[in-house]
Amino acid sequence: MHETLYAPGLGYYAAGSTKLSTRSQHTSNQISGDFVTAPELTPIFGQVLAQQFNQVFTQLGHPKILEFGAGSGQLAFDLLTALDAAGVTAHYFIIEVSADLRARQAQKLSSWSSRITWLNSLPTQFEGVVVANEVLDAMPVALVGWSHNLEAVERGVIWQENSFTWQDRPARPDLAQALTQRMPALPGYMTEINLQAESWVQQISQWLGKGVVFLIDYGFVEAEYYHPQRYTGTLMCHIQHRAHDNPFFAPGLQDITAHVDFSAMARAAQQAKLDVMGYVSQARFLLNAGLLQATQTLQKTSPHQSLHAIQKLISEAEMGELFKVLALGRGLTDLPLIGFSQGDRCHQLTRAP
Ligand SMILES: C[S@@+](CC[C@H](N)C(=O)[O-])C[C@H]1O[C@@H](n2cnc3c(N)ncnc32)[C@H](O)[C@@H]1O
Repeated sequence: MHETLYAPGLGYYAAGSTKLSTRSQHTSNQISGDFVTAPELTPIFGQVLAQQFNQVFTQLGHPKILEFGAGSGQLAFDLLTALDAAGVTAHYFIIEVSADLRARQAQKLSSWSSRITWLNSLPTQFEGVVVANEVLDAMPVALVGWSHNLEAVERGVIWQENSFTWQDRPARPDLAQALTQRMPALPGYMTEINLQAESWVQQISQWLGKGVVFLIDYGFVEAEYYHPQRYTGTLMCHIQHRAHDNPFFAPGLQDITAHVDFSAMARAAQQAKLDVMGYVSQARFLLNAGLLQATQTLQKTSPHQSLHAIQKLISEAEMGELFKVLALGRGLTDLPLIGFSQGDRCHQLTRAP
C-alpha cells in the first residue's frame, strides 16, 4: 500500500494523476479525478469548520492552523476566505507528502501566499488548530487476520506467474498483540490495523502545545470495526469514481484506502497524554457548529450553490453517518467545543465490557 500510494514518481499520491475531483469538474458532465471529498463538494464545509476554529482561536488568542494532507488546497481556500470575512487574519501551515498536490495548493492559494507556509517536516512546537480531512484513511495499513487454525496472520503481496497475489505469514508480534486485544479469534477473518496512523497520532503529543486537533474521516469505533460480520475488512480502491476491492488493479493509478479505527486513534492519543475532546458523526458536527445558518447565508449570497452537495455532507446514506469527527487536544479541556455540543459519542470509543 505504501509503495503503490507513495513510491517517488510512481505512487498514486507521488505522481501527477488528477486524484481529487474539483467543484467545477464534478458539477459538469465530464468525469475527472477518482473521488470527491467534503471540501470539494461545497464551500459550506470550510465555512462551518471556520466557526468551530474561531471558537478555539478566541480562547487561544492567536489564529494559527496546521493542515495535514491539504489535497487540492480547497479546504484551506474556504477556511481562509471565511476567516477573512469574519475579520480573523489566520496564519496557515500545510504538511503535504505529495509534491504534485503541494504545487496545486500553491497555485490555488496564491492570494494568501504571505500567510501560508509549507512545512517539510513536523514542527518542533505548534499552538493552534490542527486539521486532517481524509488523511488517516490514506495512511498505509497492515492486512491482518486469523487463519483457519486461528493463528494471527499478516497478509503480504508476492509476484507469481506474472501477477501479484496474496501470501500470508505469521503476524509480527506488535500486530498479533494488537489483533488479539481488539477482537476475538474468528477463523478466516481478515481486517486492517493502522499502526502508522496510531504512531502519527502519538507523535502529535511531542509538538502540540495548547490546541485542538480535528481528525475527520470515514470509520467506526472498535466494536463496529472488528464486528464478526465485517470479515473481509474495509480496504477499498477508488478509480474514476468507481469503488472496488482489488488493490492489484492499476497499481499507482488508483487510490487505496481503509476505514479508520477511531478507538485506536483515541487510545493512542490518551497514551500520549492528549485529551479526547469529542467524537461525533460528521452530520452532527456540522449541524452543531452552524450548518443551517451557514446554508441560509449562502443561499442569499450565492443562490446557485447546490443544496444537493450540502445534503450529501449530512445524509445518513452518504457522508453524514459514516464520516466522524474526533477532536484531540491539550490545555483546553474547559472549552466546550461547539461542534460536539450534542450527540457526542466519546463513550463508544471504549468497548462496552
Ligand atoms: C484523500 S486525500 C484528502 C485531501 C484533502 N484533505 C481533502 O479533504 O480534499 C489525502 C491527502 O493526504 C495526504 N497525505 C497522506 N499521508 C500524509 C501524511 N502522513 N502527512 C501529510 N499528508 C499526507 C495526501 O498526499 C493527500 O493530500
